[in-house]
Amino acid sequence: MDSPTSSVVTLRINGEKYTLPVDHRTTLLDALRERLDLTGTKKGCDQGQCGACTVLLDGRRTVACLQLAVAAEGREITTIEGVADGERLHPVQQAFLDLDGFQCGYCTPGQICSAIGMIEEHAAGWPSAVTDDVRPEAGPPPLTDDEIRERMSGNLCRCGAYVSIVEAVGRAARARPDEGHEHPEATVKESVA
Ligand code: FES
Ligand code: FES
Repeated sequence: MDSPTSSVVTLRINGEKYTLPVDHRTTLLDALRERLDLTGTKKGCDQGQCGACTVLLDGRRTVACLQLAVAAEGREITTIEGVADGERLHPVQQAFLDLDGFQCGYCTPGQICSAIGMIEEHAAGWPSAVTDDVRPEAGPPPLTDDEIRERMSGNLCRCGAYVSIVEAVGRAARARPDEGHEHPEATVKESVA
């Protein structure tokens, strides 16, 4: 008997449930853009190199072009369409606007989703490759420009808006209320509930 090549999946995206049949080879990125019309998530390289397709899965940033849609069933998916609180922009979105953290804007949804995940990772004390003191008891390192650049290095900007992007991410991180360094999953789940 032939194995099935498609399945009906239910994806929970930005607090809404979407049920649809998908070929098992369909990426989460293609499901979002081509099947659900959620075109805020961008396709750049389609091979995990540029970060344009970054979304949050259970609060963790991930590149949607390397995720299969069927594997995202049961997870909390947050795209750029879901980060604002109604009419109020997410602080990262607002900082990008205020500080001109973009030019053409193509990389911007991925930059913003990545920054949201990164700020929570940092607050939870996760070190980066440029962190001097990686002992858990040292806590989060100062979020210097070098730290931001390293932690955001998976998101490329063809326009080269990096100076403003770093500034915007830093401003948004400093505006984050100190909630005791909770795990990143908890924070983003609240925002999509
Ligand atoms: S489109 Fe996914 S990383 Fe480039
Ligand atoms: S703003 Fe144009 S690619 Fe980043």
